Amino acid sequence: MSLMQKHAVFERNSIVLLIGILIVVAIGGLVEIVPLFYLKSTIETVTGMRPYSPLELAGRNIFVREGCYLCHSQMIRPMRDEIERYGHFSLAAESQYDHPFQWGSKRTGPDLARVGGKYSDDWHVAHLVDPRSVVPASVMPAYPFLKEAPLKTNLIAEDMKTLRIEGVPYTDEAIANAEADLKAQVNPDGTADALVARYPKAVVRDFDGNPDRLSEMDALVAYLQMLGTLVDFSTYDDKANLR
Ligand code: HEC
Repeated sequence: MSLMQKHAVFERNSIVLLIGILIVVAIGGLVEIVPLFYLKSTIETVTGMRPYSPLELAGRNIFVREGCYLCHSQMIRPMRDEIERYGHFSLAAESQYDHPFQWGSKRTGPDLARVGGKYSDDWHVAHLVDPRSVVPASVMPAYPFLKEAPLKTNLIAEDMKTLRIEGVPYTDEAIANAEADLKAQVNPDGTADALVARYPKAVVRDFDGNPDRLSEMDALVAYLQMLGTLVDFSTYDDKANLR
């Protein structure tokens, strides 16, 4: 019996064909999945990565609420044009505390993974209030209400507790101090030592240009200004991490 004839069994009998498909697909699936059970982690540990400070987290919540990810990705791909435009390609570790991640699938606007420090706070505030005032050809919507909307802070500790269930390493101390840390980050006159010890590189200042008001703008700009700033790529060695 030739191979062609043997194959006829599958072609004439749909149940046998179905079982055959299941076996072949299962082998392919096992080859992909089984190694993941043996690897301790698929995310390398990278110096500098830490969970978001409460203010940054509040800003991130606004980013998600407003759907900024519909036009902005936060993932720089390892391709030359991207690296030249946006900087070092994104590492898995850089979104390890993101639930949900903000990689995005569309870029109507630029990637934001490393936008931190690229512009001044004033620029961000002007841009969010009226994008056309700083980029005349911009098609980005305006978000003027963020400046007026008071930032709700009472639930931030609950937020952090929820993220802890997801695996974000917030300590009991960080959760107990959540609201105080949040307020300390927008108050350059206060003492922010405890905040900076818990969240190294946290930038402490009034972000929205009005020190008397804690607005949603403060939180969103604090978040934008920290994006991509935690890992020091002058000391980060790709090769050392390719184990
Ligand atoms: C409808 C699509 C759209 C949405 C929604 C949108 N943006 Fe944009 N964004 C753009 C475009 C287009 C640009 C480029 C022109 C400009 O700078 O305004 C841009 C630029 C930016 C820049 C400057 C980036 C750079 O490197 O120059 C930032 C920061 C930014 N957006 C933040 C946000 C935030 C925060 C939100 C949500 C509150 C948001 N965007 C929502 C389209 C959008």
